[in-house]
This record gives sequence, structure tokens and C-alpha cells, in this order.
Amino acid sequence: MSGHGQTTDTGGTAAGRARRAAALEYSAGFGNEHASEALPGALPVGRNSPQRAPHGLYAEQLSGSAFTEPRSENRRSWLYRIRPSAAHPPLRRTDGGTLRGASFAEAVPDPNRLRWDPLPEPAPGTDWAAGLWTLGGNGDPARRTGMAIHLYHANTSMTDRVFGDADGELLIVPELGGLLLVTELGVLAADPGEIALIPRGVRFRVELLDERARGYVCENYGRPFRLPDLGPIGANGLANPRDFRAPTAAYEDVERPVEVVTKYCGNLWSATYDHSPLDVVAWHGTHTPYVYDLRRFNVIGTISYDHPDPSIFTVLTAPTDTPGLAAVDFVVFAPRWLVGEDTFRPPYFHRNVMSEYMGLIEGAYDAKTAGEGGFVPGGGSLHPMMSAHGPDRETFERASAAELRPQKLDDGLAFMFETRWPVLTTPQAAEAGHRQKGYDGVWQGLERHFPS
Ligand SMILES: [Fe+2]
Repeated sequence: MSGHGQTTDTGGTAAGRARRAAALEYSAGFGNEHASEALPGALPVGRNSPQRAPHGLYAEQLSGSAFTEPRSENRRSWLYRIRPSAAHPPLRRTDGGTLRGASFAEAVPDPNRLRWDPLPEPAPGTDWAAGLWTLGGNGDPARRTGMAIHLYHANTSMTDRVFGDADGELLIVPELGGLLLVTELGVLAADPGEIALIPRGVRFRVELLDERARGYVCENYGRPFRLPDLGPIGANGLANPRDFRAPTAAYEDVERPVEVVTKYCGNLWSATYDHSPLDVVAWHGTHTPYVYDLRRFNVIGTISYDHPDPSIFTVLTAPTDTPGLAAVDFVVFAPRWLVGEDTFRPPYFHRNVMSEYMGLIEGAYDAKTAGEGGFVPGGGSLHPMMSAHGPDRETFERASAAELRPQKLDDGLAFMFETRWPVLTTPQAAEAGHRQKGYDGVWQGLERHFPS
């Protein structure tokens, strides 16, 4: 158990927030039963719901799974807070702006390969929640199945504003600018190269650690992300559980109007509380946020020939009821050595029943060099179900002729959200000015060599 016995502060300078980020304490281990208290004695011992909780706190359970799901699936946390979450006024429907929800039926499903430049500059005063822009998705949060892909671009910290998502958990992938995530369960910092996972229903505020913040979000409506099974890889490798960090309890005791925005079945609802709901003084449980540094990923690949399917790069997977068939996988293309003999080393040409959205956190990606605008950090590509893709012409020619010495790929950090269902793009994504209209051109000029 650990805690740092301090309250959080909604204000302060950027430098002050950065100092706070550097001083954060975490509790390690994905899927652990974490426990933390910000005041000594705030966490009840030996029971969850004593007749009177310590320090006059209210006890409240937050269930991320049905009560009766097996232990391996069960997620819940017990929160000890200044006021129970139930103490709030009615929620009123509010404008979602560029945040869209299922059923993603506004546009005709598009089988084309699509690519986008980074989101344009946001209007002054855009915070993280207001800066969310939905690219597309699938499924239905009302059936707790499917996922959505959002991007964000923000230039202002959320102040007296808190966001919570009843529809699913949020996998946040910063690309530009660090985020301070002030959650009910404590504070996490996520810089580019790290990811943050906010469980379904957990409320949080996003403060910017830099002038601007830009990145990606996978909203997962279904069963929560978990670490993939390792099979013959053995007991270690890929993302190691101990590298996932949960926050330690930190609360704010704020008695002034705070807007709480809730995403529910695709729409946003808002209520103004007379206090901050980030008032959890102690907690324990398994339904907790995490932050993870993608540079800790243990990359595994061939040491003989060919290379494994990109599933070998899976950081987190959200399973379905069909074994091996993920609702969505989060995959990272981290720095690694290429040593395959007699092997075409970039990703091969393929067509995939899964749909692939790729983003770039930094540097370059080894199968994409060309094209109007290129594949650049903050941009993204969508390769729909069964669409043909792979290296562009320039990459194919270079890799086919390259001398096959051991080669370190260390200038890029790309990732993929790979989902079993087609990603239906929103009209704003299809019609966006920053969509690259000439993306197909990167595969033009792949000449016939037969017979050679
Ligand atoms: Fe692919």
C-alpha cells in the first residue's frame, strides 16, 4: 500500500504541473489488486463497507464487470470518497462537437485505403475533451461491443471540468505533448511514447504538460484490454506486467462548480456538481487506470527467416467470446533489429480480414516512405477489411535490393489499432481537408518483373 498524502490542485503553472508529474508515485503490475490511501488510515482493513468508513468517508464500489464474472474477468474497485458519486443533479444532453458515437451509420462503408495528415490546429481554448475528433468505429456501446477511433488536439487544460466514459475504456496514445491525467484513483502522467488506459466509468481531468497535446484514442466498448497470452514464448516477453503503473490515491477537496461530462451510448451528457468528483481519498481494487512506456516493450522477432505476423507486437488485446479473435488489438512497432536471412524485411503485402488503423508517434515507419504528405507523426492510415496493402513502391524496390546485414530500426514508433470489424468512417473523417486524397498513388508503379 502506498499513498502520498496530498491533495491535487486544479490550477498552477505548467512548470508546477510538470514538477507534480515528476513526483508522482505509482503502484506496479497490470491486473493486480492495488491498494492506496492518501491519508493514513483512510482505507478500511479487513472489510470493504464498514458501518462507518474512516475519516467520515463514503464507501462506494465501482464495478467494471458483472458481479458474477469469473475471477479472471472480474474488475471492481472500492472507493472511499468525500461524497458518494450518487450526489449529483440531473444530467442534460450536451453537444458532442466532433466526438461522435456509434452506430457510425451516417456514411456508406468505404473499402478504400485512407490516410490522413495530423489534425489541424484547434481553436484557442480547446481542452482535451473538447478536442476529441472521431475518425470512425464499429459495434455499439449499448451492446458493449465494438470500438471507436478518436484523435485529439488540445491547447488548454481542463479546468473545473471532468470527463467520464460509460461506453468503454479509453486507451490514450499521446503523440505530441505530455498529459497529466487527474483521475478518481490518482494522478498519472503520460508523455509521447507512453500510453494511458482509463477504465470504463472512471472520471478524470486532463491537464496539458506542454503548450499543445495531440494524439490518438482507442475507445473499447467491449471486454477490457488485457495482456495477450504468450503461448510458446513462455513466461516473459512482449509487455511485461510489472511495467504497467497504476496511480496512488490523490484527492481534491474542491467546493465550487465543476462540470462533469459523461459519454453514454454515444452521446454526451453534462451536469454541474457543487464539488469535484475527484475526491477519492483511498481505494483498492482491480478497476484502475494504468500508464505504460512503450519503450519497455520486449520486441520479439525472427532470428532465422521471414518474420512473424504483426500479432507478435501486441501490447494489449481486448478479447471476444471467440478464442484468438480480438475485438481490438493494440500493437506497437517499436525499435528492433532486423536480421532475417533471405527475407523481404519490411511488412509483406497482404489482405486481412481484420481492419487496421495505424498511427505514428515519432519518426518513420519502415513500409511507408512515399506519398502526398507521407505517413507522418500525428497522421494515420486505415486499411479496411480485405483491402490490399503493404510496402509502397519505393520501399519494395529498396528492400528487394538491400544487402541483408543486421539492421537496427530505431527511428520510429508506430502503432496499430486492429479490429475484427470494419471501421466505418465518420463523414467528418471522410470529408476532412486533412485527408490525403491521393493515397492510392503510393502503390502505383509497382511494375511487373515476370518473367525475370
Ligand atoms: Fe496490414
